[in-house]
Amino acid sequence: MRLVFFGAPGSGKGTQSKRICQELSIPQLSTGDMLRQAIKDGSALGKEAKGYMDGGNLVPDQLILGLIAERIDQPDCKQGYILDGFPRTLPQAEALDGMLSEKGQAIDKVVYLEIDPELVVARLVGRRVCSACGEEFHVTNRKPKADGICDLCGAPLIQRPDDQEEQIRVRLNSYKQQTAPVADHYQAQGVLAQVAAEGEIGEITHSILKKLQ
Ligand code: AP5
Repeated sequence: MRLVFFGAPGSGKGTQSKRICQELSIPQLSTGDMLRQAIKDGSALGKEAKGYMDGGNLVPDQLILGLIAERIDQPDCKQGYILDGFPRTLPQAEALDGMLSEKGQAIDKVVYLEIDPELVVARLVGRRVCSACGEEFHVTNRKPKADGICDLCGAPLIQRPDDQEEQIRVRLNSYKQQTAPVADHYQAQGVLAQVAAEGEIGEITHSILKKLQ
């Protein structure tokens, strides 16, 4: 199954796509994670992407398209995958259509996680991430046992540079201007599945699985 998880920053794309990937035994391809890894590695891509990401802006399409074209050709993607955070602009969606149709493939479903934008601000400002293993915590919803320290590996927790309120507002604005219109593209293809993304994480996973049946 080839799926896209689509929605505003903080709507739960990462959380839900990880859970559904486990259910379906397919890989999760997160462009945000790939770019953060490139920054950590100090690669040319990472150096170019960092300024855009730290400010909360989208990275230029051509940087992302090369990354995705290469990744979906890997052997672990043969049975399908979940694209988490891609496509995020109409040119990205059209380029993905082109890449897939060359292989005689198409996206089966786009899971659209719908949420009140004000709710995501609280979710995102409180998020803390392990600087070593990437495990996520939250200052109120999922506190680490020791303040500022990862429960799993003991490394310090950090706040993503784009999880400051000012950058979150920029991200929400980019979403509204550049990403939200992509939903219409998939609605026209008849593959859009809307899911309410507020409430308990397990219940949302259940709703997504029902839409995928
Ligand atoms: P990316 O990492 O994709 O960031 P994002 O879309 O802003 O998404 P987040 O990871 O913040 O949120 P999410 O929807 O995945 O929610 P999550 O499950 O993490 O991208 C970062 C940057 O990279 C972009 O700004 C851009 O610069 C660049 N980029 C990436 N892809 C690109 C592309 N295609 N084109 C151009 N640029 C690109 O949850 C968020 C928090 O909420 C967590 O703390 C989680 O625990 C919590 N949470 C989740 N669900 C619930 C729930 N039901 N109840 C309570 N808390 C919840």
